[in-house]
Amino acid sequence: MGTPVGQPVHILDSPQLLIDLDVVDANLNRLLAACRQRGVDLRVHFKSLKCTGLARYLASAGVKGFLAAKLNEAEALVNAGLTDVYIANQVVGAMKLARLAALAGRASVRVCVDDAENIAQMGQAAQKVGSTIGVLVEVDIGMNRCGVAPGESALPLARQIHSTPGLRFVGLQGYDGHLQMLPNVAERRGKCLEGLEQLVGTRRLIEKAGIPVEVVTGGGTGTWEWVSAFPGMTEIQPGSFVIMDCAYHAVRPEFGCALSIRATVVSKRPGQYVLDAGSKAISRDFGTPVVKGRPQDTVLKLSEEHARVESNDESVRVGDTFEIIPAHCCATMNLHRSCVGVRKGKIEALWPIEASGRYD
Ligand SMILES: Cc1ncc(COP(=O)(O)O)c(C=O)c1O
Repeated sequence: MGTPVGQPVHILDSPQLLIDLDVVDANLNRLLAACRQRGVDLRVHFKSLKCTGLARYLASAGVKGFLAAKLNEAEALVNAGLTDVYIANQVVGAMKLARLAALAGRASVRVCVDDAENIAQMGQAAQKVGSTIGVLVEVDIGMNRCGVAPGESALPLARQIHSTPGLRFVGLQGYDGHLQMLPNVAERRGKCLEGLEQLVGTRRLIEKAGIPVEVVTGGGTGTWEWVSAFPGMTEIQPGSFVIMDCAYHAVRPEFGCALSIRATVVSKRPGQYVLDAGSKAISRDFGTPVVKGRPQDTVLKLSEEHARVESNDESVRVGDTFEIIPAHCCATMNLHRSCVGVRKGKIEALWPIEASGRYD
């Protein structure tokens, strides 16, 4: 069989994960332009993509660096030739630190920390192989996940990194994950600015102690607008804005939904139809998906291999195909092994999703 590239999407069987590249272009160009205008860097979170073909596509459109949630994602990026990588997470334990140190020998690798013992072990791992790891101290600006308290607590860690051979102190991360989906914009903005004040205050404190702070990074798709405009921030780190989902689209309508699952109607009765994609193809951890372009239809339930949709449209037939937009793009990418890049109804790229199903 020849390559399907250039052929219409309807030659594909279902369910099939699709990425509309015109929508990706529009989302990316919007954010790149805003970041350029505001003088901050855009680092794209690869946990939303997990697909190096798509990451390379973004790199060719102007993205310089990527964020990874886990080491395996960082390794996938470096293996694909994308060599400016920041693991925005704690990397802990001898086995992972050895992988981190080895990766730092092949690429520009940064990681974040919030623990003195972890820093000491990271330094030893880097020295062992002669690499240098860039390190950011994570500051908890309200998410209550990882990170040290804003202010004084970050300083001893910054000093320790600064004086540890094999490590290079790069700066600070403060991620406001608890705010991303807040529907009330005024509340989201107000809380975001409060957190940024704490983060940039911590930057000032470290600089006052004589340690240069090169990078202060944070924000996501829900808060990009305020984080990128805040004096003292140097970088934003969103991921979902690239392909989006219906939950994020409700709070950030400026980004279009590029990700969908093409599915076939396999059963039909008055008032409902059933599609051949369920919870094994569409993540429902952030809510119920929608059927693209059919606001009058309601997805009632996802079972493992079926989506049951309420619809009064009598013209729907078994064999019809629709596209489902999931409520959580990152978790949906993690369910699939490959995706298809489409443009104006034609297949443009076939990409493996190398980091899907990996948690290490
Ligand atoms: C550390 C970190 N930075 C940034 C993000 C932003 O991602 P998104 O734009 O998909 O909300 C996340 C999301 O989980 C994250 O964990």
